[in-house]
Amino acid sequence: MLLHIVILAAGVGKRMLSNHPKVLHSLGGKPMLEWVIEAASLLHPEKIHVIYGHGGERIREVLPGMDVNWVLQKQQLGTGHAVGQALPDIPSTAHVLVLSADVPLISANTLETLIETSKERSGSTLALLVAKPENPTGLGRIVRDADGAIKAIVEEKDASDTEKRIAEIYSGICLVRAADLARWLPKIEPHNAQGEYYITDIIAMAVEDSVPIVSVTARDVAEIQGVNNRLQLATLERVLQRRLAESLALEKGVSMADLNRIDIRGKLHPGKDVFIDVNCVFEGSVILGDSCRIGPNSVLKNVTLGEGVTIHANSVLEGADVGPHCQIGPFARLRPGTRLAAHCKIGNFVETKEAVFDEDSKASHLAYLGDVTIGKDVNIGAGTITCNYDGVNKHPTVIEDGVFVGSDTQFVAPVKIGANATIGAGSTIRKDVPAGELTFTESVQKTVYGWKRPIKG
Ligand code: UD1
Ligand code: CA
Repeated sequence: MLLHIVILAAGVGKRMLSNHPKVLHSLGGKPMLEWVIEAASLLHPEKIHVIYGHGGERIREVLPGMDVNWVLQKQQLGTGHAVGQALPDIPSTAHVLVLSADVPLISANTLETLIETSKERSGSTLALLVAKPENPTGLGRIVRDADGAIKAIVEEKDASDTEKRIAEIYSGICLVRAADLARWLPKIEPHNAQGEYYITDIIAMAVEDSVPIVSVTARDVAEIQGVNNRLQLATLERVLQRRLAESLALEKGVSMADLNRIDIRGKLHPGKDVFIDVNCVFEGSVILGDSCRIGPNSVLKNVTLGEGVTIHANSVLEGADVGPHCQIGPFARLRPGTRLAAHCKIGNFVETKEAVFDEDSKASHLAYLGDVTIGKDVNIGAGTITCNYDGVNKHPTVIEDGVFVGSDTQFVAPVKIGANATIGAGSTIRKDVPAGELTFTESVQKTVYGWKRPIKG
């Protein structure tokens, strides 16, 4: 079968009440349209055509590098008109699989079943993916005759009261021969409640042309759940997240404090015996080594954790690479470029950025460590700050092995601290420090005898 896939993504999406194109709204951290393109790609079609229009160039900007044929639908005149825009790019011998970018969780498996069902018949067929959701409101209803043969699809807005009681709906997904489309599309007329050219009008035309219509019922209703408003988007997000959590539990052996309080907006790769407490968010690509424990309310984005790492509550990590058995948080913030070797500790209210730690080094409380290289067995006292920015440029701080930094120290970069040096508390270090010695800056302590506090007048 010469397969061409047309993804309808040009609609205005009025019901989202948004300034952004509907198909760019995200589900599990990814634009809805991208989900559909991914499912389509798994079928290895000859070509994927994406019909875009509303929000035009933004859509192409957000999804660069996609191997698709972008087809502009200048005016959104309806789904039938939209499919027609791709037709000049599709050979008449092809089969056309029509997908909707607002039906994001459709799986390649279900689409394969639709394709296989269509192949069972020789000659022309029109194959429809249908379903019986709990609530069919707003969807096109499948009208069958007394023998069960499909006769038409009626949109909710055009349906009679009897038709509205039909439980079976059209998913927006069908498979049709390009040659049939070429014959039928020009005959569609916008004589309906919405004044649009409906793709669904081809069903009646197939009946007239005696083209057999077959249907496949989607077993999993979430797969064909369309998103027309924010309520549907939010509902589908929960369905997706619950499924991701279940598969983490069943397929990866992850323990979670609550399957309903974890959000994965990207790819999570857990090792064995990982525990995740409530309200954690994982974004981008996150790799968790064996026996990692993630405390409650933590956010991890593009992070790799080695074996046995503990992230204590309320920590935020982005672009960090954390070695085995490190202890992070509570309330730690690891920013991009943080690389920790084994057994390091980053404690509460410590912020790191472009900070490279060798083994067994600690910054246990209240610090800013940016553009810094820290050796082994270094202890960074509370209140230590790398003054890495002069208002124009960033400068590095190098702290060699075994250094002990007293509390409330500022390193005015660029500066280098030799191995095993000790920095006295309250120092402002502006010059390189020799190895193995005690260095501090003095601030004179004064006492003013007899001084009185101001009194409220
Ligand atoms: C459509 C179907 C309905 C089905 C439902 C399933 C029609 C007429 N109705 O209704 O039978 O039950 O999907 O979710 O097809 N689009 C364009 N250009 C346009 C208009 C729409 O590209 O001119 C795109 C939209 O971006 C969307 C898709 O087509 O991705 C469906 O359009 P939408 O307006 O959401 O149709 P529904 O009312 O949901
Ligand atoms: Ca829709």
